[in-house]
Amino acid sequence: MTIQDFIPSPYTEIAKNASVSYQSPSNIALVKYWGKYGEQLPQNASVSFTLSRCKSETTLHFEKKNKGGYDFEVYLDGVREEAFEPKIHKFFQRVEQYLPFINEYRFVIKTQNTFPHSSGIASSASGMSALAMCLVALECQLYNDKSNLLQNNSYQLQKASFLARLGSGSAARSINGPLVVWGAHPKIEGSSNLFGTPYPYKVHENFSNYHDTILLVDKAQKQVSSTVGHDLMHNNPYATQRFEKANSNLQELIPIFESGDLDSFIALVESEALQLHAMMMASSPYFILMKPNTLEIIDSIWNFRKTTHSKVCFTLDAGANVHVLYPSGEKKQLQQFIKNELSKYCKDGTYIDDVVGFGAGVI
Ligand code: DP6
Repeated sequence: MTIQDFIPSPYTEIAKNASVSYQSPSNIALVKYWGKYGEQLPQNASVSFTLSRCKSETTLHFEKKNKGGYDFEVYLDGVREEAFEPKIHKFFQRVEQYLPFINEYRFVIKTQNTFPHSSGIASSASGMSALAMCLVALECQLYNDKSNLLQNNSYQLQKASFLARLGSGSAARSINGPLVVWGAHPKIEGSSNLFGTPYPYKVHENFSNYHDTILLVDKAQKQVSSTVGHDLMHNNPYATQRFEKANSNLQELIPIFESGDLDSFIALVESEALQLHAMMMASSPYFILMKPNTLEIIDSIWNFRKTTHSKVCFTLDAGANVHVLYPSGEKKQLQQFIKNELSKYCKDGTYIDDVVGFGAGVI
């Protein structure tokens, strides 16, 4: 598939005033995307677990208007959210050539998250992928295309992921589940820089229903956005080595996913999280997104693992919160440990229990 494949042929139908609604989850990267080039293309391939409970639910109301460019308003939890509009405006500009119909519509985008919006959890992956699904669903109406939008590997799902990427890179990995690769990798068949694809090889049952409890260490807005962080990789002296390492880590995960070797999984996933933050510290200007309690939690997880032989591990996204990953068989023991030992490091004691899921869906 090339970029040209996402430029549509002339539409055959007219859709007047109606709405479409889709939900899409967040995801947590095991091998991280950090550094991009061109128009939202990743410097290395990444892989993530799609989540299920942390999601955005979006309704796109559309109204045909005379030509003159698109128009839109965004509402979060029923309240107009003008702060979101510059990001969506940029997204619309980027997707215009792939969805030329948008210029003939006035949109009202109503969205809500199932997680608290002040939680510091990135809502761009779930929000942008849900919006991309709505736009593809509307485009289907313009062809009178009644094919199942949610069929695995369908052109429509690829296009939704392609569009979501233009809103936020990691959003490309939220359309499908439970494991999604984004970024061309020579050892992963079908992988592409343009869209996310379901991980195509054998995955051991140890990884079924994997749990992710997200510990909310800091709910404040990050001092450095992901977009700025990605940009700083352009003159990071370790960038080339990091991109190579991410790709080799992804390759190492192939036999780990197949055999279910959780010790190797833990070593690789934790190393990826720390390398991501090491890149931030090695940027110019440098920055640190972890907080003291992030390190307290990591230390407690390491101690717990040593004393109990649990297969729990952590990963981090671009912030202070900690994602605690564990196999479903350890659910009871881990939820007790989190409640008794880790929740004291969370802001107001809050954390979110999530589990691996299957991607976007119609509401
Ligand atoms: C650390 O996808 O939020 O979570 O493309 O600029 O919107 P933009 O960045 P974004 O970056 C995510 C970075 C990460 C790692 C990952 O999810 O792979």
